Amino acid sequence: MTVTVYVPRDSAAKSVGADEIAAAIAEDPRVRLIRNGSRGMLWLEPLVEVVTPEGRIGYGPVAPEDVEGLFAVGFLDGADHRLRLGPVDQLEWLASQTRVTFARVGVVDPLSTEDYVAHGGMAGLHKALSMTQEEVIAEVTESGLRGRGGAGFPTGIKWKTVLDAQSPLKFVCCNADEGDSGTFADRMLMEGDPFTLIEGMTIAAYAVGATEGYIYVRSEYPDAVSVLRQAIELAYARGWLGDDILGSGLTFDLAVRVGAGAYICGEETSMLESLEGKRGVIRAKPPIPALHGLFGKPTIVNNVLSLGSVPMILADGAKAFAAYGVGRSRGTQVFQLAGNIARGGIVETAFGVTLGDLVNHYGGGSRSGRPVRAVQVGGPLGAYLPVSQFDLPMDYEAFAAAGAMVGHGGVVVFDDTVDMAKQARFAMEFCAVESCGKCTPCRIGSVRGVEVIDKIIAGRNRSENLVLLDDLCDLMTDGSLCAMGGLTPMPVRSAVKHFPEDFNKLPTEGFSILEATQSLEAGR
Ligand SMILES: Cc1cc2nc3c(=O)[nH]c(=O)nc-3n(C[C@H](O)[C@H](O)[C@H](O)COP(=O)(O)O)c2cc1C
Ligand code: SF4
Repeated sequence: MTVTVYVPRDSAAKSVGADEIAAAIAEDPRVRLIRNGSRGMLWLEPLVEVVTPEGRIGYGPVAPEDVEGLFAVGFLDGADHRLRLGPVDQLEWLASQTRVTFARVGVVDPLSTEDYVAHGGMAGLHKALSMTQEEVIAEVTESGLRGRGGAGFPTGIKWKTVLDAQSPLKFVCCNADEGDSGTFADRMLMEGDPFTLIEGMTIAAYAVGATEGYIYVRSEYPDAVSVLRQAIELAYARGWLGDDILGSGLTFDLAVRVGAGAYICGEETSMLESLEGKRGVIRAKPPIPALHGLFGKPTIVNNVLSLGSVPMILADGAKAFAAYGVGRSRGTQVFQLAGNIARGGIVETAFGVTLGDLVNHYGGGSRSGRPVRAVQVGGPLGAYLPVSQFDLPMDYEAFAAAGAMVGHGGVVVFDDTVDMAKQARFAMEFCAVESCGKCTPCRIGSVRGVEVIDKIIAGRNRSENLVLLDDLCDLMTDGSLCAMGGLTPMPVRSAVKHFPEDFNKLPTEGFSILEATQSLEAGR
């Protein structure tokens, strides 16, 4: 008798001992071990799944010392144990989600082309190859897909611009830099279902007439890099990449490039500079990358999740994707719950779910058990929102109207011990550290911003300095060359607006005057 057991190879699962558990389980001759991706319930990792007639029964979180006991009770038959969770796909947390982009993550063996095809893989590319380039782009446009990397720009329009550009050489570049705080969905898709990204990029290449592609991955993601490189090799071997893809005459070559680790290299023009082997510095726009991108050629730059959504859009049709969501935010978004949260992980669901639902229903509130006070949505440049805004639907326009942004879907939770004046200071400091240095409002403005906030915290000319901070924020918003300096005021202003009391503490309650002066003198 052979029993199939799944133990994730996802780096979050590995960080809490999945490799050790996998090795211990694999010693039993009855076991056929598969290293899957994580289902995204990170608080249950390492989550071991056993295939039984009742379905895939989960046990978790499993520690290496639990393995002996699991075998002793007969977990290979799905036996009862204190760690037994029941059929994994029936767990309410998972069953209530709408898994579209992540439909296969955690389910399949990420490096099995057979498993990929058995679970619907390649249907999108086959469909695309039976259509004209214009028809493929029309389908993506009608789906309402907007870039998942942060700005929410319509993907179909970007692709149409590249298709219409005249050039014998065009590129498709996948932005897998994923620098936003509390985000990890790109990594999980690359590690858990790499062929989806490869298929999405190949569809994009066909649609615009590109022959070369690059996946720009952050250096902190060695597992994703390794899985992608293996997957690309397997895809070449199956005729899914290279010359005459699936006998269609299409040529598309794909490679992985590893970034050096600067936040700004996630901005698309900076990423292109880095891909060309230069320092990651912003390029002024126009010209836009769609017309003048990698090595000056027309280039699609899309996020992992944008490209990862494309196979489903082609396979199931634009209407099926557009049926999810609200207003102009169509389809599903992969939200990432992080920070001080009881159940951190990914929640893929249609746009329109409320912020409160994500934090309280899925996330289970704070991990510390203390009341939640603030949530930062959309990465380090996103707004800090108070609990009173928990009714806000996850929708690009609703968030913009509230002075916030959905961004890449990262949700970082803070409990009531957070000091929001220090968080505002952190936002400015982050910009000072990560600024590419090309323009003055960002390079100098962020340093001045830290100084002004220090004075406010220390109680020095508080009212005047709050006005000065507001002025500085206006200048950074209006005068910065890119969204790094342009959006840094968002977290700062939201903190001042929603948590004014934290900026009004007596000097002795917060930063002391002495500390503030020392910090100023140290040039921090
Ligand atoms: C400072 C900064 C950092 C960014 N980091 C990322 C990133 O890590 N990943 C990403 O996909 N987009 C990032 N973006 C957005 C990209 O510039 C670009 O809009 C995106 O990759 C386009 O793909 P999409 O249309 O599929 O979202 C960043 C933007 C800025 C201003
Ligand atoms: S805003 Fe900042 S990161 Fe963007 S170009 Fe200016 S200095 Fe560089």
